[in-house]
Amino acid sequence: MEKIIFNKRFLARNEANYLGQYLTPSETVENKQFEKKCISIIAKKLKSSFVYLTSSCTAALEVSSILSDLEPGDEVIMPSFTFSSTANAVALRGGVPVFVDIKPDTLNIDERIINLAITSKTKAIVVVHYAGLACNMNAILKLAKDNGLLVIEDAAQAIGSYYNGMPLGTIGDFGAISFHKTKNIQCGEGGLFISSNSQYHDRAAHIIEKGTNRLEKINGSIDKYEWVSLGSSYVLSDIQTALLAAQLLDEEQVTSLRAAIWQQYHLGLEELESDGLITRPSIEKGSSVNGHIYYILISKPHNRKLIAEYLALRGISAYSHYEPLHLSPAGRQYGHIPFELNITEDIAPRLLRLPIWPLMTPVHVQKVITELISAFHMV
Ligand SMILES: Cc1ncc(COP(=O)(O)O)c(C=O)c1O
Repeated sequence: MEKIIFNKRFLARNEANYLGQYLTPSETVENKQFEKKCISIIAKKLKSSFVYLTSSCTAALEVSSILSDLEPGDEVIMPSFTFSSTANAVALRGGVPVFVDIKPDTLNIDERIINLAITSKTKAIVVVHYAGLACNMNAILKLAKDNGLLVIEDAAQAIGSYYNGMPLGTIGDFGAISFHKTKNIQCGEGGLFISSNSQYHDRAAHIIEKGTNRLEKINGSIDKYEWVSLGSSYVLSDIQTALLAAQLLDEEQVTSLRAAIWQQYHLGLEELESDGLITRPSIEKGSSVNGHIYYILISKPHNRKLIAEYLALRGISAYSHYEPLHLSPAGRQYGHIPFELNITEDIAPRLLRLPIWPLMTPVHVQKVITELISAFHMV
């Protein structure tokens, strides 16, 4: 029986070649050549020059929190349906993650209720573009502007995705993207910090470089670098930049292959939705699809385990996703919920993610669809 695993690493065309170049140092090879290559590809792709490679998306979120000048007790509004890093970045500064509900269709933060959670202590809104599908950024930006709040985009899953033509991660004040091995474009562990606002450019560079002005020394504008602000070691290692540069060059191919698989699932599972057995993902108006995750919401939560087991017996891996943060031990300790999070609590136990990776063939995808339909006939 052929196994259909959940995710398979995509080997980019130039990956082995770039890694070989990195491992064969030469006098003629420019210092930091792959970092420069990554930055130039990303800056073009994201139409933004204020980008810094980081050791993870977690690191980029922490940089955003430091730049936001969060003080103890400051509140930051975010969804509870996200990864711990979104909230940790705030709590580590002494801030309070304020968890609000998501929308049942896109599973992204519900922009219609954010205003109910705003207090005199609110400093920022963190949006998470779940599955690489955009939040309603027009409404969120307007709300933030009206209330003098920063907008931080947790675009961990969103490389290659757009909202009204704007790359996700570049729309708010700060953006964070992940290049972790589970992501569309990856170098094992890695991330990107983006700021569309040039007023933060210098400070961001200091924070990422251990609180020093080392980058100014590297650029030749100063002779000696020194400790100038709070910061940490958020830099991506050189060897990873070699892998990442190769991956980034193939981003459009990866995105279109994944998006095609996403569409095949979407069409193939229409019948299960019209029979009332599942709900398929909805897309916010203006959002593109980068095919990072294809998930279904199973109408009856107790069926999820049975369906996953049925698929596993046939060699197909399918997984749940986030446990709501407001129900987790640290979420209860550090977070605050201004009102009930009914949608979050309803969807988390019903969500099942299906296998998706760039070289998955239409035959693989059809097998998953067929077995999934059979699974629903069995339960
Ligand atoms: C929404 C979200 N934010 C942040 C992260 C952390 O990313 P990284 O592993 O690159 O630190 C993840 C990880 O998957 C995530 O899903």
